[in-house]
Order: sequence, then structure tokens, then C-alpha cells
Amino acid sequence: MDQQSFGDALRLGLRTAARRVRQRASLLLAVTIGGGAVALMGGLSPWMIVLGAALALVLAALVSLEGEDAGAAERASSRAQRSAAAEMAGRWRAALDAVPDPVIVLNHGGAIVHINPAAREIYALLRPGGQPSLLSRDPIFLQAIDEVLDDGRQQSVEIQERIPFDRRVRITLTAVPETSADEDGPRVVIALRDLTDQDRLGRMRADFVANASHELRTPLASLVGFIETLQGRASDDPVARARFLGIMGQQAARMSRLVDDLLSLSRVEMREHVPPRTAIDLNDTVAAAVQALEPVARAAGATLKFSPCDGPAVVLGETDEIVQVVQNLVQNGLKYGAPGSPVAVTVRREARGPTSRIAVAVRDEGPGIPPEHLPRLTERFYRVNPKSSREKGGTGLGLAIVKHIINRHRGEFRIESELGKGSTFTFVIDEQARRPSAAL
Ligand SMILES: Nc1ncnc2c1ncn2[C@@H]1O[C@H](COP(=O)(O)OP(=O)(O)OP(=O)(O)O)[C@@H](O)[C@H]1O
Ligand SMILES: [Mg+2]
Repeated sequence: MDQQSFGDALRLGLRTAARRVRQRASLLLAVTIGGGAVALMGGLSPWMIVLGAALALVLAALVSLEGEDAGAAERASSRAQRSAAAEMAGRWRAALDAVPDPVIVLNHGGAIVHINPAAREIYALLRPGGQPSLLSRDPIFLQAIDEVLDDGRQQSVEIQERIPFDRRVRITLTAVPETSADEDGPRVVIALRDLTDQDRLGRMRADFVANASHELRTPLASLVGFIETLQGRASDDPVARARFLGIMGQQAARMSRLVDDLLSLSRVEMREHVPPRTAIDLNDTVAAAVQALEPVARAAGATLKFSPCDGPAVVLGETDEIVQVVQNLVQNGLKYGAPGSPVAVTVRREARGPTSRIAVAVRDEGPGIPPEHLPRLTERFYRVNPKSSREKGGTGLGLAIVKHIINRHRGEFRIESELGKGSTFTFVIDEQARRPSAAL
């Protein structure tokens, strides 16, 4: 190597060394060792300084190459770790998003790192990075979070919420085992379960038993009273006896109607999850149900009008149940409509996109129903005017049965009413596609 190329190599080496020195502390060590070696070899003559510098450069290059390899390996491994962690985070987030109940995840610092869609739907204010106190400020809940973060033991608390609506919520807080030191990794999973529906069902069951016993107790008490009277002071009074026996007959019939309706309701509720599979023509079924009520209408001085729809109106249905629905609705029209006014029953086809549905409407010209009662009419034992309804022999179960039957048929039930003009009760069921051969 000539002097110039040696000088160039030295300059290049020094520049590289300076760069390496800035990058790595290990280089400093190498230079120090080189310098030290030269000093030990005795004295500081110029060629020795040059030799020491060259030695230092060789060492520096070796050390930096090694450091470079180690650094690259380190970077690659941390990149791999980061992408594995991101993949894992993607997976647990996707799994929680599929849970139908609200779930919220906190990190080690107690901040929110994930909100699944069910939770977002109810708690619109929650945001990743936010605090769980936005979910509830209830001290029991906040304390439970602190405890899980502290000791990792599962906590379950129940809180009463007012916002966004009144409800009772059970919150389970579970610690996630620590798998990484990532501060933003999941630490606490908060699962919420709304107990409001469960409470409502419990109340409904209790109300139902109370209502059913009350409905039975009234005619039963009347029967017992008349029996005692007949055994006592009316025993020798044929006129009173005949009158009392008439009333007793009515009360017994009422009880038997109530028991029939209760059984009917429980039967249809039990089968509600199994939709009917038989194809029936609603024109025929509804016509038969209306015809069977002609004598009742005549006795009430009312008229029944029936209008079928054009062509067959085929649906999947249970004939007996559809007859029961139509009879309940027509009897209501006769009972609660204006005395002597007509009750009209219409079957028609309703288009709905590429498919169509068959609608059956029962319309009366009675006094109508105040709007505040409409949403509750299909509840068991709900009556607009309990006293007059009972006097008319109603049990208050008719529309509840209707609703369950229509649910079983996967249909829709609508009630429209205008005060002073009358009411229309409509049920709608999907029409079965008509085969061209059947139409011929
Ligand atoms: N066409 C109608 N016009 C006005 N009110 C009605 C009409 N149909 C029903 N209602 C009101 O809705 C209430 C509930 O009706 P539902 O058929 O369930 O019971 P009900 O007729 O009293 O008894 P049931 O039908 O079991 O003999 C009735 O008590 C009545 O107050
Ligand atoms: Mg009724």
C-alpha cells in the first residue's frame, strides 16, 4: 500500500470510526484498548501512533460489525415481538367483539383499551383511553376495579343504573393473567349483564299468578255465596232459586272460559318456537271462522261483512289457531263495537319487496280505544275498562292469545284505533310463493 492510499484508508477509517463512536459506546472501548496497546509497546514515536490507530480501527471495525449484527438481530426480534403482540391483540379484540353482552377491557393503569360493539351501543360516551368511571360512578364498581387491579381476584357487583335508562346490571370483573409487560395490554375484562329483562319476567310471572287467581276467585266466591243462600233462606223460594241458579250458571261458564283460555295460552306459548308447516288458504279459513259467528252477530243485532282477496291466499298456518284468532277479533268487534254496527273482515295481499304477505283485518265502528292503551292491549288480563269488560264476559286473555298465535306464525299484529270512529285489528303473514302449476 502506498502512502496516499494508506492516508485515504486512514481518513476513511477515522470517519467510519467517528460515526461508529457516535453510534456505539463499545467503540470507545476498542479505541482505548488500541491506544493502551501502543503505549505498552513502548513510547509514542509517530509510526507507533499510526500503528496504534490502525490497530484501533481494525478492532473498532470488528466490534462495530459484531454490534451491528447484534443490533440488527435485536431489532428484528423486537419487530417480530411487536407484530406477534399486535396479532394477539387483534385476535382477542375480535373474539370480544363477537360476544353479544357488553364487554370492556382495561389496561394495567385502569384505562379503557377496548369496548366491544354491544358495550358501544349502550355506553356511547366510552372511548379507548378513557376512564371506566364514565360507565358508572357507583363507588362499589370503582372499588371493585381497584381491587382487581391490585390483587387480580375476580369481582362481581350489581349496580342500579339510571342512564341511559333504568336498569339493574351485574358486572363481572376478571383479571387477565399477565403475559407481557406491555402497559397497554389487557389487564381487566369487565363483562356486563343486564338483569332488567329477568326482573321483568319474574314480575310478570308473579302478576300472572295473582291475576289468574283473582279472576277465578271472583266467580268462585259468588258461587259459594249463592250455594249458601240456596241452602239457607232461599231454600223454599222457587223464584229466588231459579234466579240464583241462572247467575250461578253464568259464573260457572265464566270460570270454565277462563280455564279454557289459560290452557289455550299455555299451549300456544309452548309451541311458539315451532312455526306451522301446513299450507292453508286464508280466504277459506277466515271465511269459515266468520261464518261460525253469524248467529252471535245476529243475536247482537250486528252484521258481519267478509271480503276475500283475489286468487288464493296461501300461507303456512295452523287452521285451528287462525280460526281462534279471527273469532277472538270478531267477538271483540261485536262486544266493544257500537251496538248493531257492522264488523268487516277483509283478506288482502300486501306487497313487500319481491315477496308478498297476506293481511287479515277486522274492523269495527265502535267508540275506539284511547291511544295510551294500545301498546298494552295484548298483555294478559289487560282491559281498557275492567268492569264493563268483565260484565261482557271477557277474561282479558283474548288478545294475548292472538298475539302468541301470530308470533308462532312469524307474522305481525297491528292495532289501529281512532276515537269515535272505530278500531282495526290486523294480522299479516308471509304469503307462500304461488307455483305456476297451482295457478292454472
Ligand atoms: N274492538 C275493540 N274495541 C274497543 N276495545 C277493545 C276492542 N277489542 C278489545 N278491546 C279492549 O281490549 C281489552 C282486551 O281485549 P281481550 O280480547 O284481550 O280481552 P276480553 O275481550 O276482555 O276477554 P276475552 O277476549 O278473553 O273474552 C278489552 O277488555 C277491551 O277493553
Ligand atoms: Mg276478547
